[in-house]
Amino acid sequence: MMRILSGIQPSGTLTLGNYLGALQRFVELQHQAECFFCVVDLHAWTVQPDPQQLHERTLQLAAMYLACGIDPDQAALFVQSHVSAHAELGWLVQCLTYLGELERMTQFKEKRQGKESVVAGLMTYPALMAADILLYQTTHVPVGEDQKQHLELTRDIAERFNNRYGQTFVIPDPLISDVGARIMSLDDPTKKMSKSNPNSNSYISLLDSPDTILNKCKRAVTDSDKEIRYDWDAKPAISNLIEIHALCSGLTIEAVEALYQGKGYGDFKKGVAESVINRLRPIQERYERIQKENLVQEAFRKGAEKARFVANATLTTVRERMGLVLPF
Ligand code: AMP
Ligand code: TRP
Repeated sequence: MMRILSGIQPSGTLTLGNYLGALQRFVELQHQAECFFCVVDLHAWTVQPDPQQLHERTLQLAAMYLACGIDPDQAALFVQSHVSAHAELGWLVQCLTYLGELERMTQFKEKRQGKESVVAGLMTYPALMAADILLYQTTHVPVGEDQKQHLELTRDIAERFNNRYGQTFVIPDPLISDVGARIMSLDDPTKKMSKSNPNSNSYISLLDSPDTILNKCKRAVTDSDKEIRYDWDAKPAISNLIEIHALCSGLTIEAVEALYQGKGYGDFKKGVAESVINRLRPIQERYERIQKENLVQEAFRKGAEKARFVANATLTTVRERMGLVLPF
């Protein structure tokens, strides 16, 4: 059976890109595999968040997971800091990782750029991510392209451990989807849609109102001619909108093209907005209800219990193999 783990940082409201590229897929995966979804609050500390904001965002992210269809009876949804094995194995993994390996990480180099000083955690972060994954004997890790290098490092560390101290960890494979894997920015189809973009018209948040969605779609950039045609080389802006329309409405790319044959960009953009609004409406309604009924706490309790059981078993083996005396 496939064992899946993915971690998401509580760093702001999720976008349509997160939903189509990741969350929607997690919802399908929970019926095919044993899934662990972790809100990585310890990772969020690499960029010194405001404590109050981190607290709120952790709860909001979990509510959004549930609203999108994660079922806490199917998949374990938990907070990283609720399972202390993450921090413990994180330290041990740091002691098995070379500085050179961490210095080579593209994300570290990017995040460090232009800053006078960064905290040590920003650099050691991939060791904690490796611990997240290895604790669960994870077979597959659904991640975006940007996390591939961290996963490679996780595999190297797991192999190093297994070779030195005996077979302990499963070597995890990345699971990178090709549909919806890259929803692009509405103001620039060469950039990924991202919540960290300072221009809020560049992304659709999962909590945007219907009016906001319509406005953002209307303002989205287009390509030079008037044709509504799926062609990423010649017409990246329109292709991105066609893809969003198709993924949100369940129509094929060809069906969306056919629907707007001979019509203008105005009609098309309205259609894109409608498909997004209809797709997000039930999610937003569930989100409200989950917030009101405090359903997150119960999910976290169940999730952490399930996670601790698996994580602690792995940690005990690791401690034994590394010569740590177990508590009497
Ligand atoms: P991030 O918000 O970058 O931490 O990403 C969380 C998850 O959402 C990762 O699995 C990403 O690959 C996915 N994701 C983020 N932005 C997009 C996007 N524009 N298109 C598709 N997937 C995305
Ligand atoms: N590094 C991931 C990101 O920034 C988040 C993450 C932390 C993660 N631990 C993980 C992803 C374990 C997958 C598995 O998006």
